[in-house]
Amino acid sequence: MELSAILHVLGVVVWVGGMFFAYMALRPVAAIVLEPPQRLTLWAGVFGKFFPWVWVSVALILATGLHMVVKLGAATPLYALVMLALGTLMMMLFGHVYYVPYAKLKRAVSQQNWQAGGAALGQIRTLIGVNLSLGLLTIAVVFVGRALT
Ligand code: HEM
Repeated sequence: MELSAILHVLGVVVWVGGMFFAYMALRPVAAIVLEPPQRLTLWAGVFGKFFPWVWVSVALILATGLHMVVKLGAATPLYALVMLALGTLMMMLFGHVYYVPYAKLKRAVSQQNWQAGGAALGQIRTLIGVNLSLGLLTIAVVFVGRALT
């Protein structure tokens, strides 16, 4: 259980921390200092480096989370089930980002179609904003849930 918890939290740190940095630090500065061709090329490259780590994190969080739920069995607290629901929603949103707007962003950048790239990046920004909020909420749910259980 301890090893599962460590790997679970490492996955959470990489995913949620990465989204926080991208959304709260890189995005506002890139929007001011870079023109669309450089900005969209930067984001396609940044996501190309970050998203494989998100897939690793998703796999770790899901495997370790389900392992802990199975170990806890009937003693699984309600907040862990809420975490399972929120986590599953986050993973589905990430899958959508990866296969729809991120695929469009890569295509747009390779074709130098900056208008289509801007639209795709706008969708990614909205969905990462939602996922970041869900991630922070999920972390709060665990600790508030524990305090109340
Ligand atoms: C998707 C499926 C997930 C499942 C099945 C799951 C399940 C669990 C379980 C069973 C625990 C141990 C609860 C306890 O012993 O008190 C746990 C701990 C935790 N989970 Fe999740 N979780 C999932 C996703 C997530 C996500 C997406 C986040 C955050 C964004 C998250 C954050 C945490 C944190 C911070 C802990 C506390 C670790 C510790 O202090 O031991 N989990 N999870």
